[in-house]
Amino acid sequence: MTELIDGKALAREIRGQLRGAIETLADADSRPGLATVLMGDDPASQTYVNMKQRDCEEVGIDGRHVDVDGDAPAETLYETIEDLNADPDVHGYLVQDPVPDHVDYREVIRRIAPEKDVDGFHPENVGRLVAGDARFRPCTPHGVQKLLEAADVETEGADVTIVGRSRIVGKPLANLLLQKAPDGNATVTVCHSRTENLAEKTRRADVLIAAVGVPELIDASMVGDGTVVIDVGINRVDADTEKGYELVGDVDFDGVKERASAITPVPGGVGPMTRAMLLYNTVKAASEQSGVPVELP
Ligand code: GUN
Repeated sequence: MTELIDGKALAREIRGQLRGAIETLADADSRPGLATVLMGDDPASQTYVNMKQRDCEEVGIDGRHVDVDGDAPAETLYETIEDLNADPDVHGYLVQDPVPDHVDYREVIRRIAPEKDVDGFHPENVGRLVAGDARFRPCTPHGVQKLLEAADVETEGADVTIVGRSRIVGKPLANLLLQKAPDGNATVTVCHSRTENLAEKTRRADVLIAAVGVPELIDASMVGDGTVVIDVGINRVDADTEKGYELVGDVDFDGVKERASAITPVPGGVGPMTRAMLLYNTVKAASEQSGVPVELP
C-alpha cells in the first residue's frame, strides 16, 4: 500500500507547535514580525504572498506586506529593503521572486540583512549552509527534510536523486542531505537539463525528489519499485476549471503512485511545508534578535 505523505497535516502540526514559541516571544515584548515585499503584480506571486500573510495571522506573527510598483526603478525597492533592515519590529522579510526584468534579484538578495533573510538566500547564509553551519535553512528544502522525517524515511546511507538544480530548492537541498547529520548522510545525485540517461538515475533512487518545474516530467517508467517520491513542483496548466488552470506537480501522480512506497500529493504536499518553515525561520529570527530563547519544532 502506497503511503500518502500529508504535508498539509504536518504543516498544521508545526504551526501549532510554533504558537507556544510565538506567545513566549510576545510576552517578552518581541512578537515575531514578518514582512513580504512584492514588486509588480504577478498573479501567482500575489497568491503566494497573500497565503504567507494569512499564515502569519493564523499563528500570531505580526505580518506586514509592502507593494512596490513594477515600473519603479530598482532604487525604490532598495529603499524599502533599507527601511526593513532598520525596522526593529521586522525580524524577517522576503522579496518575492520573480522581480521585474530591470531588477537584478541577486543584487536584491545581497542588500537584505543576513539575520533577517528568512528565505536563506543571502550569500552569507548560503555559505553558512554549505559549510554545515546553517543560520536559516531555505524553506522548501527544510520542509522536504521534515516530511521525510515525519514519514520515517531514513536518509542516512540512502541514494537520493534530486531532479533540478535551482538556487531555491535543488542546490540547498542537495547540500543539506549530504551533511554529516542524522537528517542528512545521503548519497546525493543532482540531475538537470543536460543530464544524460535521466531515467537511469531516477530509477536507482531510494528517495526521488522532483524540483524541476516541468509538469508531470517524472512518469512511472522512471521510478523504481518502493521508491519514496517527493514532488516539489507546483505548475499551473490550462484546464477547464473556474480559474482556467489547475495545479500539477513534476510527477505523474496517478502513474507513479503504483510504484512508489510513499508519495507527496500536489497540492497538499511540499507547498504547505514551505510556508510553515517560513514561519519557523521568522520565529528563529525573532528569538535570535531579541535574545529570548524558545523551543522550535
Ligand atoms: N518565489 C518562489 N518561491 C519563492 C521563495 O521561496 N521565496 C521568494 N522570496 N520568492 C519565491
